[in-house]
Amino acid sequence: MSRDEPGGDATAPAAQLAAPGTRSAGIDAAPPVLLDPSRTGVADFEALARERLDDRAWAYFSGGAGDEHTLAANRAAWRALSIVPRVAVPLAGGDTAVELLGRRWPTPLLLAPVAHQRLAHPDGERATALAAAAQGTGVVLSAQASVPLEDVAELVRGDAGRGPLWMQLLPHPDRGFLRALAQRAAAAGFDALVLTMDAPLHGVRDRERRAGFALPPGLAAVNPADAPPRPQPASRFDYAAAHAASWSDVGCLASASALPLLVKGVLHEADARAAVAAGAAGVVVSNHGGRTLDGTVATARVLPRIVDAVGHRVPVLVDGGLRRGSDVLKALALGARAVLLGRAQVMALATAGAPGVALWLRLLRDELETALVLAGCRTPADASRGLLFDGD
Ligand SMILES: Cc1cc2nc3c(=O)[nH]c(=O)nc-3n(C[C@H](O)[C@H](O)[C@H](O)COP(=O)(O)O)c2cc1C
Repeated sequence: MSRDEPGGDATAPAAQLAAPGTRSAGIDAAPPVLLDPSRTGVADFEALARERLDDRAWAYFSGGAGDEHTLAANRAAWRALSIVPRVAVPLAGGDTAVELLGRRWPTPLLLAPVAHQRLAHPDGERATALAAAAQGTGVVLSAQASVPLEDVAELVRGDAGRGPLWMQLLPHPDRGFLRALAQRAAAAGFDALVLTMDAPLHGVRDRERRAGFALPPGLAAVNPADAPPRPQPASRFDYAAAHAASWSDVGCLASASALPLLVKGVLHEADARAAVAAGAAGVVVSNHGGRTLDGTVATARVLPRIVDAVGHRVPVLVDGGLRRGSDVLKALALGARAVLLGRAQVMALATAGAPGVALWLRLLRDELETALVLAGCRTPADASRGLLFDGD
């Protein structure tokens, strides 16, 4: 039922598209793109991807729920925050490293779980994971990934410069199956699990409907391939009841493997407290990129409340609408330990596969470093709310 459930660095290579004949199901017959790192910016990949993706794949990857108010609100909320930089700050020796779940990582950036990436490029999640590792960025592999989780772990876990390697899970009515999947991820070498709790049901995806989106034959979520069939009750309430996790499920899953478990999809501070009380090692403030309930609050607006509620106990991460290095700086200033990037990774993937994602991430890292330096922050931990203008 669920489709996703419930400057320019001179050393970066020019990126070329895969040869015709290896086109992905969602790729149109657009001419190959040669990316020139010295002339490409972080914001350019969306338009390049639009030229490459067919209308249905574009609707799936870029669309949101309903009238897409939340999709727009996420981006607008970051834009609405203004930075008040400090000058004459000692910056020597600074870097972008962050501490997360007891380990130090090169950047506060992770790729958000995004399903079915082989729809955007034949290499799919292998390409995004390799590029992320090369750029010191973390990966949260979707429960609906189109390549085996073991393949992704094998590709990146030995890379000393990589970021965190986390596996996203979806609640499943068969708790034994979910525990086994958690243990499989642990055995493959993942560092943590992320349980997505905000999508027990599909949002109302009007844009996908209008475009007639359906997963093409041959493209499937391969990791839960051996999952017991999901019951299909007629009522949405009963379907959601069967597919949602309770806080006690969170506790059980948190102890099912040796891996820390984060909860993704938290917007209310009471839920953040409950997640931590149930054993969550972190929370991800997310509204699923505006794909579930349209009208949901923008993540930037509730992030400070959740940081205040649980940030002294566990790391708080955020996603939704982050596109620029300055957006990442604002999230750090509001108290996020790290950020997740959803659609932007697919735009880079569709544009030019692994080299496209690597170039986009290099540019984003450069933007983040520039933003930290120009705002007077030696490290991400130096970013605080005092850096943001909260007047009219
Ligand atoms: C096409 C698409 C598929 C997604 N698939 C998943 C998924 O499988 N699991 C999940 O937890 N979130 C999924 N998400 C939500 C993202 O993880 C993330 O919360 C969201 O994209 C962040 O917003 P942004 O796209 O504005 O960065 C998906 C988002 C998109 C756009």
